[in-house]
Amino acid sequence: MSDHGADAAARKLPLRYSDDIQGDILAGFRKDHETVLMLRFPDDPEPVRKWLRRLIPQISTTRQVAAFNAEYSTARHTLAGTDPAGLSATWMNVSLTYPGLKFLMGTEPLPDQEPDGVQAFVQGAFARAEINGDQGDSAPEEWLFGRADQPVHAVLTIASDDQAKLEVRASELRVAAARAGLTVTFEQVGATLPGERRGHEHFGFKDGISQPGVRDFDRPDPRDPIHVDGKPGTRILPAGEFVLGHPKLTGDAPQLPEWTRNGSFQVVRRLAQDVPAWWAQAGAARRQLDKEGVELPPGTGTEWLAARAVGRWRSGASVAHNPNAEPPTKPGAPDDNLISYVEDGEGHTTPHFAHIRKTNPRDGIGGDFAPADVRRIIRRGIPYGQPFDPAAGQGHGPDADRGLVFIAYMSDLAFQFEFLQQAWINNRDFLQAETGTDPVIGVDSDVTLKLDTLPSGRKLHFAQFVRTEGTVYAFAPSLSTLREL
Ligand code: HEM
Repeated sequence: MSDHGADAAARKLPLRYSDDIQGDILAGFRKDHETVLMLRFPDDPEPVRKWLRRLIPQISTTRQVAAFNAEYSTARHTLAGTDPAGLSATWMNVSLTYPGLKFLMGTEPLPDQEPDGVQAFVQGAFARAEINGDQGDSAPEEWLFGRADQPVHAVLTIASDDQAKLEVRASELRVAAARAGLTVTFEQVGATLPGERRGHEHFGFKDGISQPGVRDFDRPDPRDPIHVDGKPGTRILPAGEFVLGHPKLTGDAPQLPEWTRNGSFQVVRRLAQDVPAWWAQAGAARRQLDKEGVELPPGTGTEWLAARAVGRWRSGASVAHNPNAEPPTKPGAPDDNLISYVEDGEGHTTPHFAHIRKTNPRDGIGGDFAPADVRRIIRRGIPYGQPFDPAAGQGHGPDADRGLVFIAYMSDLAFQFEFLQQAWINNRDFLQAETGTDPVIGVDSDVTLKLDTLPSGRKLHFAQFVRTEGTVYAFAPSLSTLREL
């Protein structure tokens, strides 16, 4: 690693935090390949403790990951946007579910009367399925991991830009776990999509654009210190929104035991996507508008309606700044993510139901940013499965497994992730009556499409084509806490 990378990382975060916080939380693994191993502990805690002690030196820290990312970005910039060959890294983080922590601590890790976010962690994702809208085809009894009869104690997240290196590391970790008597109960492999689709999720839209910035970690914009320098629209929030033991936007963090400091709650979710069915319904909804004689700007077809469902075009360009056509240059204007919904209170441009408005209503809720900012999460997902492309042969057809390995970090599971699922994504009356649920990931509903030319709105049916196939709530402890277990 060059001095430049290490310096850049050290400048960003006080050293004692950057060496203590695991690397995927604030810095984020920059990766094309990722494997998530779900592990079950044996009955005897001693070999598990030994296994963990041997694992700790291999855990990637924020400092290491941030240094690599800084070096990578500098090299990419020098190479005018192409990927620097020869710069490669393989990372690993570990998180523990509540039963896993309890097993290692030998006692109840958290006292009885706790805030809702801690209760969510204690109860686990299986018990909280209803809150998250996981019913019907997404029912937790059908999950591939996280079911009540299939306990998960630890989660290893292994990432690399090189598939062969990832496989070597994953197999070493599997062997070490097996020697200590741990069982791999589920293994989820993810990879960025190939070619032009790189950085896009399976429906075809660019992902990973809008993330929160973190104070003392991301560099503020000198002209506007509430945003991240060079990333317009990315607001800087206090670290306590994502990492425990630090002040939050609303003031002090809840008093939790000292061992939680510098740790973060993690949601791992396997979300299967039925790509052809989702696009077929976008097409049907668009044709319905024609049948009903709704007047639309010329040239606005299925892509136009799908962009309203997401709030962005396939390239990632926002509907807010590019209402009726995808801009010819990717990814739109430099400040494309600097979105305000104040002037679009009725959702005539970015509909209230649009995925990016539902999951981050920005200043369009409560007249201030704060109500949306306290619900932010850090997303670290990656697609799994081959792209839908029947001409490309086996594995690319409509029935093949594909979707998103959704991974998110936050300081409160109930206040952040579960709130997004329940109060915004799956709330039919979000912002206004009969808005409908999120047409990308929400449960079935009619959404109300409103336009300047159609102020009273038209109802369009959106069924659910993203199915939950497993969820685990875990906690990624600090390095110092892991050493104490
Ligand atoms: C943004 C797709 C699941 C929360 C986005 C974007 C896309 C997308 C294309 C726009 C790119 C960006 O701004 O980064 C999907 C797909 C999903 C999925 C296909 C499932 C298969 C979820 C879930 C949540 C979520 C489960 C949270 C519970 C967000 C948030 C943003 C976002 C917070 C950023 C919004 C903003 O700041 O403007 N998603 N997403 N997504 N998504 Fe999702």
